[in-house]
Formats: sequence, C-alpha cells, structure tokens
Amino acid sequence: MMQTISTVAELRLALNNKPNIGFVPTMGNLHAGHIHLVNLAKQQCDYVVVSIFVNPLQFGANEDLANYPRTLEADCEKLKAAGCDIVFTPTVREMYPQITQSAAGIQLNQSMTIQPPAIANDLCGASRPGHFAGVATVVAKLFNIVQPQTAFFGKKDFQQLFIIRELVKQLNYPIQIIAGETVREASGLALSSRNGYLSAAQKQEAAVLNQALQSIASAIQSQNTQFESLENAAKIRLNATGWLVDYVTVRSALTLLPASQTDKHLVILAAAKIGNTRLIDNIELTL
Ligand code: PAF
Repeated sequence: MMQTISTVAELRLALNNKPNIGFVPTMGNLHAGHIHLVNLAKQQCDYVVVSIFVNPLQFGANEDLANYPRTLEADCEKLKAAGCDIVFTPTVREMYPQITQSAAGIQLNQSMTIQPPAIANDLCGASRPGHFAGVATVVAKLFNIVQPQTAFFGKKDFQQLFIIRELVKQLNYPIQIIAGETVREASGLALSSRNGYLSAAQKQEAAVLNQALQSIASAIQSQNTQFESLENAAKIRLNATGWLVDYVTVRSALTLLPASQTDKHLVILAAAKIGNTRLIDNIELTL
C-alpha cells in the first residue's frame, strides 16, 4: 500500500529503521521519464520514496511557477502502479518554515541557501539567475528529510544532475546518485512536464531541437570537431524554424566547460524557446 505523507514529522516516523531507501525527487506532473526513475529505484532499493513539490525557490519572478502543471491525483495513480512506497507531498510552509505572507505576497525567508559552483551561472543558469541555488537548496533539504541511500535524477536535466553530484561530493552526503536516461517520444522529443504547454503544431516543431543536436553528434562522430561552426549551424537552423535559441553548445561531460579537442566524453546541450515554452535537451557522446 502506497502512503501519501505531507509532513516531515510523519515522514520521519514512517521511514524510521527502513533500510536501503531509494529517493526520486520530482515536481509532479509525472511522465514516463519520472516513472523510469521510480523503476530504477525499485530495482536497486528496498523502499522507494517519491517527493512531489513544486519548489518556488527555483523559479524566477517571470517564470511559470503559478501555471506549473499540478496533477496530484493522476501522479499518485502512476506512482501506485509503479510500486512506490511513499509519496511525500509537503506544503510550501512545511519546506520553508520561515515563510511569511503579507499584502506584498509570499516571502519564503530562506536566508540560508546552498551556493552552487560557478557552472551554475552558465548554460541554463545564465538566463535563470538563482535557479540552481534554488534547486540545490531544496534538494539538500529533501536529502536531510528523507535521508536516502540512493537518489535518482534524469539526464535530461544534465546541468542539474552535474550540480547535484557536486552537492553530494562537496557537502559529504552519504548518498549515491544514479542518473536515468532521458525518455523520448517517437519523434525524439525529450519528455518534459513543460511539453504540456505545446500546441499540436509546436509539438511537431519541438522534435527539431533533438534533431539539431543529433546533427552535431553525427558530425563530431565523423571527425568534424569545429564545435563553434557546428553550434552556429544548429542555431541558424533552429532560429529559421521559429525557435528563440538560448544556447547550443558542445561541452566536456566531465566539467561542463566548453569542449576542447582532447575531450573524449562530450555533451551537446541546448535550450530554446518555442512560443512561450522553454525546452532543454542534450546528447552525450563518447569518442
Ligand atoms: O528536476 C526537478 O524536477 C526539480 O528540479 C527537483 C530536482 C525535483 C528539485 O525541485
């Protein structure tokens, strides 16, 4: 029987003495990519906890916090079917106990935060200032609350995964981080809760993002390592089909710094807007 728990105190009680806890943090609106992570957790752990929490601290002022899809009932059905043991659904107050509300709006008052490494200001962090500090802070809180042995994150959010691995290393969390492969539609479009914002026509167009990354990957595999011109060609292609490109870039998968000619493990990352929807994707490449 899956339990739904909303308070830290109840969760601590339920997890007391549970061995080998696997943890999948999410913001809900679950799709096959999340369920893949739950399946991995089921395979590797004795007890599986999934959190559903739309974390205000990682959204910028002009982002989609208010509209972010909240589909708790459908999410719980999927988690039950996947064999999840506990779904943790805290309120904002439970996660941010210093919260205050006034006429000016809600203040989280989370004055203690995790300062992520400099790479958090690059790629998605360049256009989403504070985003990864918000992610790292809530993940640290969730790790402290759940105290799992293993935690599972999707590779679609490659930069996030990188920063979480740094969090675990630099703050000495005794937690193993497992990365789940990106789950895609037949068109190649990476599954994302934000795909729900797309019209049917935009969804077709959205597949071009992955195609653009695939073209770069094929070129590199056929010995074309002119990274900058490959990046520019992809940007031109995307801009020509109505995208607003944030970045397309070839990086070292080990450092996330711009790739050099000697790097053997690469990741090609992109972020672009179609209409008002910002999508991200990446492809890893080992030479
Ligand atoms: O990837 C997500 O859904 C979120 O960034 C996470 C890791 C659950 C933190 O809020």
